[in-house]
Amino acid sequence: MTELKIAVYPGSFDPITCGHLDIIKRSCKLFDKVIVAVLNNSAKNPLFSAEEKIMMIEKCTKDFKNCTVESFDGLLVDFAKEKNADTVIRGLRAISDFEYEFQMELLNKKLNPEIETLFMVTDLNCLYISSSVVKEICRYGGDTKGLIPDEIINYVKNKIEKEC
Ligand code: PNS
Repeated sequence: MTELKIAVYPGSFDPITCGHLDIIKRSCKLFDKVIVAVLNNSAKNPLFSAEEKIMMIEKCTKDFKNCTVESFDGLLVDFAKEKNADTVIRGLRAISDFEYEFQMELLNKKLNPEIETLFMVTDLNCLYISSSVVKEICRYGGDTKGLIPDEIINYVKNKIEKEC
């Protein structure tokens, strides 16, 4: 039996953006299975709980049959190993992402040399999108169409309205 090629796509996803979704869609074509891994213990004081993030990502990826969504705690390489994944996928938007991603790749490689990181350049139409700008636009009543997937626009809007 041939071994399945499994990849993990980790992140904060607070919330998932069109840029994240583009990376997931393309990854699903490259791997037998893609596990979107939502960081649970983020120090970033997230707006959404891990459960809410998973629910939103599942809504947007329901048509991708080889994609699953889970949360994780602790080290990413340990989660990847537990899931039999040998690839970590990260999206790159701009040079500003590179320094952090470069450090993370080297650290992950040091922690587990068997796990490879694959960088994918975010789609040109999504290069300027981040979860932080989405939340800011939403807080000031701006339109988030085209920034986050249609399936979650109302959920994100309602959550931010309640927060204000
Ligand atoms: O979407 P983000 O915030 O850029 O994702 C960052 C993430 C979740 C990939 C990163 O913080 C992570 O892997 N955290 C788990 C802890 C870990 O493994 N740290 C060591 C490598 S830096």
